[in-house]
Amino acid sequence: MCGIVGYVGRKDAESVLTVGLQKLEYRGYDSAGIALLTNSEIVVRKKAGKIHDLINDLENNPLPKSDIGIAHTRWATHGGVCDTNAHPHPSRSGIFAVVHNGIIDNYAVLKEKLEREGYHFQSETDTEVIANLLEYNYLKEKDLLKALVRTVNELKGSFALAILFKEDPDLIIGVRKDSPLVVGLGEGENILASDPVAVLPHTKRVVYLNDGEIAFVRRSSVEFYDFNGNPVEKEVKILNYDEEDAEKGPYPHFMLKEIYEQPKVLSTNLERYVRSLRPVLLRDLNLRKLLLNKSRIIIEAAGTSYHAGLVGKYLLETYAGIPVEVEYSSEFSHKKLVTDSRTLVVAISQSGETADTIDGLRHAKKHGLEVLAIVNRPESTIARESDYVIYTNAGIEVGVASTKAYVAQVQVLTLLALELANVKGFLTEEELEGMMRHMEALPEKVERVLALDAHIEHIAERIYRSTNVMFLGRGINYPTALEGALKLKEVSYIHAIGYAAGEMKHGPLALVDNNLPVVVINPRSSVYELTVSSTHEVTARGGRVISIITEGDMRMAELSTFTVFVPDVPEFLTPIITIVPLQLLAYYAAVLRGVDPDKPRNLAKSVTVR
Ligand code: AGP
Repeated sequence: MCGIVGYVGRKDAESVLTVGLQKLEYRGYDSAGIALLTNSEIVVRKKAGKIHDLINDLENNPLPKSDIGIAHTRWATHGGVCDTNAHPHPSRSGIFAVVHNGIIDNYAVLKEKLEREGYHFQSETDTEVIANLLEYNYLKEKDLLKALVRTVNELKGSFALAILFKEDPDLIIGVRKDSPLVVGLGEGENILASDPVAVLPHTKRVVYLNDGEIAFVRRSSVEFYDFNGNPVEKEVKILNYDEEDAEKGPYPHFMLKEIYEQPKVLSTNLERYVRSLRPVLLRDLNLRKLLLNKSRIIIEAAGTSYHAGLVGKYLLETYAGIPVEVEYSSEFSHKKLVTDSRTLVVAISQSGETADTIDGLRHAKKHGLEVLAIVNRPESTIARESDYVIYTNAGIEVGVASTKAYVAQVQVLTLLALELANVKGFLTEEELEGMMRHMEALPEKVERVLALDAHIEHIAERIYRSTNVMFLGRGINYPTALEGALKLKEVSYIHAIGYAAGEMKHGPLALVDNNLPVVVINPRSSVYELTVSSTHEVTARGGRVISIITEGDMRMAELSTFTVFVPDVPEFLTPIITIVPLQLLAYYAAVLRGVDPDKPRNLAKSVTVR
């Protein structure tokens, strides 16, 4: 996944574009580049490395001033990480320069066609094929819109594009298919970007492109067309967050800021979704009818969102009595569905742009199934293509490792499961009210876990040199073990694996020795005793146990090398209270290993490629 910015207006384009790139750096950071239109020529500067390397290069070797340009930060797909493969890619004669987010599936065929027409290529990328194909079509059509229509209809795959056109110094072209693109509407200036966070410093008025749309962005006007060249009317939306939401503030990293925002996120959803100790999600009668008419749920999601789905499975089955399967989106979107109309598909996603999860949603709809999205980003593709949406209201999450969005997903799934259980008569009003009182107390209890920050950093100092770490959980906290392992591996690069605690004796116990830190998540719960037994199996073989346990639990503490005591909560809330120390553990392990937890190698925040 990559980040795209385009600008035309009154300001210095280079500074607007480089600042915009920095706000999109979470989308990919293998290489970065900029193209400006100045004195009727397109000038390009691009290099492998992070955005600050490009900025340093521009400071040392300035480009001519300009008030129009495009820029790109890359997560490599086609072609290795090198200056030549960095975007922007000019066309052969320099009429166009293109930046691209996505993958062109038929680029090889198109490349061969162009090579037969005498085109030569500098890079290994599919994006350079787009630039030359557009030039080829323009030289034939002699009409820009016709050339664009012909080009976008020849491309197969996903593409969000920003294009500079040498012959018009008041035009940035935007194109969207399967990768996000938004236009920010300013005064005498307009900006194109992959994510609204890049337009926020300039305006809160935005227009989201839909799939199959082209935008002609000028200083004082924006026109939209479909892929047949027909004009399209678009609605202006107002962004509902502020610039500081996308800033680190006093924190050294976005990941730490977002971990610390979790009490606020929990409180926001309590205000939004709970009235006088009752969840109110099902006051939406359409959603209520939908859920009451379904006999089965399939949750499809990726990564951390998949783990939230596993927690949702326990909650919906335990309390609402509805069978739930949880599928990786990348598996679900290809499998034969043995379903009927009483099957509901739930797509869980923070970004709402994960290509695998979009594919899963479209696969479900192709089979006539209704889709409920549990998503964080308004106006995202998944939000717009689902039949129903529940927002997780976690705010902008910039750190590649999802933290506050995960906790918000689990909270929403918990509220949904309990309210559905009450509506179906499995929970009385009094029982529901009692559970909601515990939910209301959760933000303050998470604050108390955050206060253990220094203690958790101390534990991280003891494990950050390890090459392997194992996480064990059982029942509703088996997903917590999986999520804790994912957090550690994706930000610190330490190999980590999560297991069902009861599964240890069936093989993984062979891994245990006195070099292996074993994190055991064992708060007070219905499976506490069984997990104490699993812990004994580990300590009997010399494993060093780090236990995440309920305050006052000395039995587990005596078995542990290190202990994190979390406040006592009912079992249904333990996935939220126990993940917070694991997030902090992963964060500090990364920092101690000298890696940037916000931008882990090889990863990107929202994976918009398949
Ligand atoms: C989370 O820490 C990971 N960065 C990743 O697994 C992420 O959860 C996954 O890519 C799904 O993203 P989404 O929630 O935006 O769909």
